[in-house]
Amino acid sequence: MESVTSLQSGLLVDANRKVSFTFDGKTVSALAGQSIGAALYASGVRIFSRSFKYHRPRGLFCVAGECPNCLMQVDGRPNVRICIEPAREGQIVRHQNAWPSLNFDVLRVIDKFDRRFPVGFYYKRYYKPLTWRLFETAARRMAGLGTIDIHAAPDQKTEVEHLQTEVCVVGGGPAGLSAAVQAAEAGAAVFLIDRQPRLGGHLLFDGIELPEIEPLAVKLTNHPRARVLSNTAAFGLYEGNLLTAFQENRLLKIRAQQIIICTGGRERPFVFQNNDLPGIFLARGVERLSRLYGVQAGKRAVILTDHDEGARVAEELAGLGFQIAAVVDPRPVSEKSRVGKDWETLFSSVVLEARGGSHLQGVRTAQVQVDGTLGQATDIHCDLLCVASSLVPVNELLLQAGMRFQVKEGRWVADQSMPGLSAAGAAAGTFDLAGQVLEGKLRGGEAATALGYTVKNLDKTNKEWAAFLANPSPVVSGNVFAHANLNDRKRFICLCEDVAEHDIEQAVSEGFDGIETLKRYSTAGMGPCQGKICTSAMREVCARTTNRDLADIGAPTTRPPCVPVTLSVLAADRHHPVRRTPLHHWHQEAGAKWLDAGLWKRPESYSDPAAEVQLVRTRAGIIDVSTLGKIDVIGPDAAELLERVYVNHFADLLLGKARYGVMCNEDGIIFDDGVGARLSRDHFFLTATTGNAELVFQWLELWKSTWKLNVSIIQQTAALAAINLAGPKARDILSALTTQDLSTGAFPYMSIREADVAGVRCRLLRVGFVGELSYEVHCPSQFAWHLWEALLDAGRDLGLRPFGVEAQRILRLEKGHLIIGQDTDALSTPLDAGLPGMVRFDKPLFHGKAPLQRQQQRGVRSRLVGFTMLKSGTSPEEGCQVVNKDKPVGRVTSSRFSPSLGQNIGLAWVPAARAAVGERFLIRANGTDLPAIVTQLPFYDPEGARLKG
Ligand code: FES
Repeated sequence: MESVTSLQSGLLVDANRKVSFTFDGKTVSALAGQSIGAALYASGVRIFSRSFKYHRPRGLFCVAGECPNCLMQVDGRPNVRICIEPAREGQIVRHQNAWPSLNFDVLRVIDKFDRRFPVGFYYKRYYKPLTWRLFETAARRMAGLGTIDIHAAPDQKTEVEHLQTEVCVVGGGPAGLSAAVQAAEAGAAVFLIDRQPRLGGHLLFDGIELPEIEPLAVKLTNHPRARVLSNTAAFGLYEGNLLTAFQENRLLKIRAQQIIICTGGRERPFVFQNNDLPGIFLARGVERLSRLYGVQAGKRAVILTDHDEGARVAEELAGLGFQIAAVVDPRPVSEKSRVGKDWETLFSSVVLEARGGSHLQGVRTAQVQVDGTLGQATDIHCDLLCVASSLVPVNELLLQAGMRFQVKEGRWVADQSMPGLSAAGAAAGTFDLAGQVLEGKLRGGEAATALGYTVKNLDKTNKEWAAFLANPSPVVSGNVFAHANLNDRKRFICLCEDVAEHDIEQAVSEGFDGIETLKRYSTAGMGPCQGKICTSAMREVCARTTNRDLADIGAPTTRPPCVPVTLSVLAADRHHPVRRTPLHHWHQEAGAKWLDAGLWKRPESYSDPAAEVQLVRTRAGIIDVSTLGKIDVIGPDAAELLERVYVNHFADLLLGKARYGVMCNEDGIIFDDGVGARLSRDHFFLTATTGNAELVFQWLELWKSTWKLNVSIIQQTAALAAINLAGPKARDILSALTTQDLSTGAFPYMSIREADVAGVRCRLLRVGFVGELSYEVHCPSQFAWHLWEALLDAGRDLGLRPFGVEAQRILRLEKGHLIIGQDTDALSTPLDAGLPGMVRFDKPLFHGKAPLQRQQQRGVRSRLVGFTMLKSGTSPEEGCQVVNKDKPVGRVTSSRFSPSLGQNIGLAWVPAARAAVGERFLIRANGTDLPAIVTQLPFYDPEGARLKG
């Protein structure tokens, strides 16, 4: 391959340092700082990919990471845009979607039969089951880009950083710099995010000089209130001004009070026959290749333009050493382009066709006559066609926020303003350079003012902006469509999916004339560029074909991410919070096997869970239940609040008594369950499930405020630890540490007492989740370790040992106690989850009363029931389907072997008509249907004698 040493130096290139990588097995050298794409181009590569459907050759096009033309496999990672991916020593780069090579691809033959693959062909031809199966098999083999190595480990750790700032500016061009400096100067804390390695935006590569930009960049970089995040791509804007971005291996979640989008503009491709040939570039792509990476895109260039920018590009390329063959301009005349040059400007002319096989060899142009017909066609020899079209705003982040843009009176304007969000520069439709700087300054000043800072001369800036708007440079939205012949079937709108102009027209004629359905039916805009390159042309064809205004066409919904992000970055989880109970290290030393329960780490078991079950059933065990939600509800309206949030009564709860309670949301769906105990007339102590502790607290706070109740809600989850002592010997063990009378008469089942245990003031709850005599001991967290060891000491001779969550789950299943979130889902109500007796419809008000009443009248469709497997063997896994005549009719939610019963038991949702005790049903496990029978709950100790004794 050709050496790269002859290259001129680019802005990002270190000409003194070389790296080498392999491309399809051949070694390629590059200058440090060059992108892989630039180095390959310099080495003579011209075909960088094959198109998705027709396998047409595709070359570099945008050199900005925005089109599908340069996707390759780099070090095992598929779909890397190599035009912006830095070349590194030892990289292994491979082509995709072509066999056997990019230069000779067997599937190119499909391109010859394109008439057999009209838009939506698979809906029309392969809808019958057999043909669809055949087509699907073939299509799946051919579809997809790149190969995922499922064994590849990410080469770097990915991590998340949560950041906060007052003003966040996205884009480091003239508008962004101006906005950021203005806000920082006023005193605001400012972030500036820029995808490029250096500040300056398009000025880095388009050769335009703006003297004030360099000082602004220096000022911002050195400003104590500003932080510049280069090489950072913003890809999502979410509710609450949450901006997501990434820097190589780091995901950034940025909360900003004010966000200013200054992401610039992009060119629109022209539409003519063969407009996808390698050698056709967007003008900014040619400029990037030359000025950033020091690589010439060609020798002899034709510039195709629809505005005065074409003349500037021609001059600039001539200055860079390109030979300019011609400038082709569909406009009748342009004064700026007229000035005498070494090249010809063909006014009123269009490019009809790009000529060449696998690379551009020339263009066919023709002049448009006054009557609209075409004059004599002329062929111009060239190896580069540079598309210098008018810009459209790069406004995906604004679109994600819900703004829509239209051209009105010569400017792109947003349909609404949003608090905390603004835009400046080309992203806001301002393409005039001086206007961009002015608008950035204004938006930066406004953002700082909104934060309470004083901005000098903001009025003056406002007046200057008003004067600018009074005389704006009109937005050019020239015609990018050349005249078409009937046989011109390769006038591509969407490069990603090979959707041509005639495909869009046909889709519209078939009735898909709404932009969203058109997008999905034609697939234009659904490929790797996500509509960046094709949306404006697709809208224009749709408007033209349906005789509607462009404004009436609308635009497809834009969703994050607007810049491709690797899954490893999105999955970055190194800093997820972890909660540990005060006894965590005791469990660790005891060799506990860990289980994640929400944010908490809990001991799953210490040894054999079945042995731990037997321990609790025959002697006694203790389990750390500190993760339970613990909430004090205190005040004159405490009983009233509980009466309204639980489906059962609490106002009549006697002092010192406890009661199981179920909370529902407004739809009657089970929200949480737990125990509520009354410590005094106005003081209740509640427990909530581990996963919902915070939600229940917030729920109570919300309804207390909504109903204006006189009550205080105190979150005690972290302040209190809890230990459950359970088993026939529990009373004997606890009585050794307390003077509290533990007899059933003095301290019966479902009651609460406050007492000293091992010298620590505790709340003792007599509850029975595991179905044995048990005491839940709640104590200040700092005494948990002392209390735990005191209990273990007291029970050592009686065989007391700790047990884990797995044993607890088996024990509770034997009692038929459900777990919210495991045995219930987002549709479960107390009426179908086996808790109808809990719902007290005689109460005047409680959450979910009306929908539950309706459900009671209507009847339930399915029920949660206990079941026993009729054959011995392994238990079906949780989640297995309950089937009837091969159709799924329910599912298993809990399933275990019960050591106490010697049977496989579980809980399952079954149709209400099959829920009676004794009904038989089938559970499909690993492709086998296993018989089960509905069984009366609880499975173990149905009278509850053990826990009440
Ligand atoms: S050329 Fe690389 S993304 Fe367009």
